[in-house]
Amino acid sequence: MSEHCQPAKQACYAVMGNPIAHSKSPCIHRLFAKQTDQTLGYDALLIDKGKFSAAVAEFFSAGGKGLNVTVPFKQEAWQITDHLSDRAECAGAVNTLWRDQQGHLHGDNTDGIGLVRDLTKNLLVDLQNKTILLLGAGGAARGALAPLLAEQPASLHIANRTRARALELAKTFAEFGSVQASGFDAIEARQFDVVINATAAGLQGKVPALPADIIGSVSFCYDMMYSTEPTAFMQYAAQQGCHQTCDGLGMLVEQAAEAFHLWRGIMPNTAPVIAALRPQ
Ligand code: ATR
Repeated sequence: MSEHCQPAKQACYAVMGNPIAHSKSPCIHRLFAKQTDQTLGYDALLIDKGKFSAAVAEFFSAGGKGLNVTVPFKQEAWQITDHLSDRAECAGAVNTLWRDQQGHLHGDNTDGIGLVRDLTKNLLVDLQNKTILLLGAGGAARGALAPLLAEQPASLHIANRTRARALELAKTFAEFGSVQASGFDAIEARQFDVVINATAAGLQGKVPALPADIIGSVSFCYDMMYSTEPTAFMQYAAQQGCHQTCDGLGMLVEQAAEAFHLWRGIMPNTAPVIAALRPQ
């Protein structure tokens, strides 16, 4: 635990990841704390791969109150958690941890609800009866599926570079709603209402190799990644004639707000925090 966060003086929270230097979570949680008049510290902790579970144990033994977990430790956090929430169980990943008085580790996943809140509350995209195309079948897509399907879309199609992973996810989530799956090349030729990029392609400045004509002027295109400039996927969508694109900054703030609520019992107002982080 860093010198900033001293358990004897204040409630300590942190995010663990690797890399972690560019995490916005400390800034977001400090803004939440200020807004809600809470006294707490929040650090970004760089954890060596292979040392995550020891670092979690050490953090809580030293008096830490709550942890966020980011890449690449979310699946490992799921494995070491004693009590998983239903949504974390479904997601196969944990991004929020805390320990109860008996010393049991509780884990939740707030990413999916963060995405849905950003879409429905901040961006006013109603998902009910809409056709959704979800790109990707990794951890980010998996975490989004149950909360997206809870909004009762007309259909949800998962498309992934590796087709087998999309099929497997569709099978797992079939009980939650109408879910189809394919590789990118076999996406049904139609324009989707909402297209969500949950692939990691943007990390290499790339976009998924989509067929023409599935994104149109009425589509809403959302990239779970965020950046100071429009992401590669947002630029691609705009080239396809899409007028409404958004990056994942709002999702980041919303997932943090849900974690803050779990830890502190108070839901911060996210709008001013999103505005403060958005470059002018
Ligand atoms: P995350 O936790 O961020 O979802 P992940 O579990 O490694 O990370 O999943 C990465 C996702 O991005 C996968 O769907 C991956 O496709 P594959 O399953 O085929 O590997 C997708 N992805 C990564 N690079 C991509 C690229 N250049 N084009 C399209 N999809 C890509």
